[in-house]
Parts: sequence; C-alpha cells; structure tokens
Amino acid sequence: MRVEILAESRDVSVAAADAFLDAARDARREGRPLAWVLSGGTTPLGAYALIAEQADALDWSAIDVFFGDERCVPPDHTDSNFGAANGVLLKRIAGLGARVHRIRGEINPVDAAAEYDRLVRDFAATRQSPVFDLVFLGMGGDGHTASLFPDSIAIRENEMWAIPAHSAALDSWRVTMTPAALSEARQVVFLVTGSGKADALVHTLEGPRDINRFPAQAIAPRNGNVRWIVDSYAASKLRGTYQSLT
Ligand code: 6PG
Repeated sequence: MRVEILAESRDVSVAAADAFLDAARDARREGRPLAWVLSGGTTPLGAYALIAEQADALDWSAIDVFFGDERCVPPDHTDSNFGAANGVLLKRIAGLGARVHRIRGEINPVDAAAEYDRLVRDFAATRQSPVFDLVFLGMGGDGHTASLFPDSIAIRENEMWAIPAHSAALDSWRVTMTPAALSEARQVVFLVTGSGKADALVHTLEGPRDINRFPAQAIAPRNGNVRWIVDSYAASKLRGTYQSLT
C-alpha cells in the first residue's frame, strides 16, 4: 500500500488523472483492453475533467468503463454518479468509442444490482484475473467506500459482485460493487480530500483492522496494489511516515 500526500485537492485530481493515463498506457503496451471502475461522489470529478481534456490522445475503443456504485435515481438526476461523470467525461469518451457500463439506478435496486452483477460477471469471464486494471474509490467522512457503509452486511458479501445497499444515514438506496469485485484490480486508487475525511482516514490507515467500522480496509487486491492519493487536509491527523509531495 502506498500513501501519497499532496497539498491541495487539485493536486490529487492531477495525480489521479495521471494514474489513469499510466494504466491506459500499460494496457495498450500489453495489448489488452483497459477496464476502469469509476468512483462516485465529487472528489474524482476534477480528475475526470482532466482526462476529458486529453481524451483525443487515447484509443477509447479499447476501454471499458464501470461504476463502483450508483445511487438509485435516474441517470439525469442530480444525485446520479453516472450523471455527474457523464457531464465532465463520459459523453465525450462514449463518442470516441468507450464502452460505458452504467448501473441502471432508475429501476428497482434489487433488479439493478442483479443486472449489474450479471454484466460484470459476463465481462470477467472474458478476462484473466485481476479483471479490472484500475479502480477509483472515494471515502466518506464515516469511512464508507463505494456504497459499503459501516456495519452493513454488504461488507461481508462474498458471492455477489454487485448488490443493493441501503444507507439509513442518507436514507437512500444504492447499488454497490462488493469488496470481492472491487478487489479484482491491478490497482485500486483511493482519492480522499478535505478535513472532513481526516478522522476516517487515520482510523482506516493507522487504526486496528475493523472492516465493519472502516469498510475501505476490506478492499484488498490479491494480485494488485492499493494507492491512497490524499490532500494535506484529509491527511492532517496521520501520524505515520508517508510520501509527502506537498
Ligand atoms: C458515492 C460514492 C462514495 C463517495 C464518498 C466520497 O456514491 O457517494 O461512491 O463512496 O466516494 O462518499 O464522496 P465525495 O467525493 O463527494 O466526498
């Protein structure tokens, strides 16, 4: 695991965009299609916009884009992770040939999860493990990642790759990839910014292992690595020694 502390959230966006471009270059060099799992929320949107600026330089016909989770709302709803990413990146790259596999938030959560579970399994059957080249994840102030909320049964789901998840705190239904699916990655990159994440980050990185309280600890690629790209505000309570590029 590698933790990189950067000064500002924009620096995190630049580093995240570079992580994607590096993964795309590696996949192209190794002659395999790139499979990229997007994170929801607002943190990655800066990186998506930077990637969109460089979109013409990439062969998107060899890139499959997935979502780690989705809110159970229509794709044009302000809360939609697809809607947010579509506005800054996806509509641009779909026009360049990218295959974007969204979670259908507009249908019943159970049906949407079953549909996505099938979709991801069918895709996995065409790939060697690890299935995904790059998985972006965020983290909430309560320590959740994707829609794996603390103390939820989703954290310990071992069979399914996508399941419905309910957040009591947010009073909202979601569909989320499970830890097993999110760990099927060559590289998992957590993007965390802001002082509101400082407590969750220090407990997740430096506290005892407790995946029920800190679900990000459950993301553990067998044949891949985990990078944390965080800003100085989210890192403000870290006590360990990390790569600081502030
Ligand atoms: C979601 C995300 C979620 C997000 C964190 C951080 O659907 O909300 O998948 O896990 O990454 O809540 O959200 P921000 O980036 O908006 O702080």
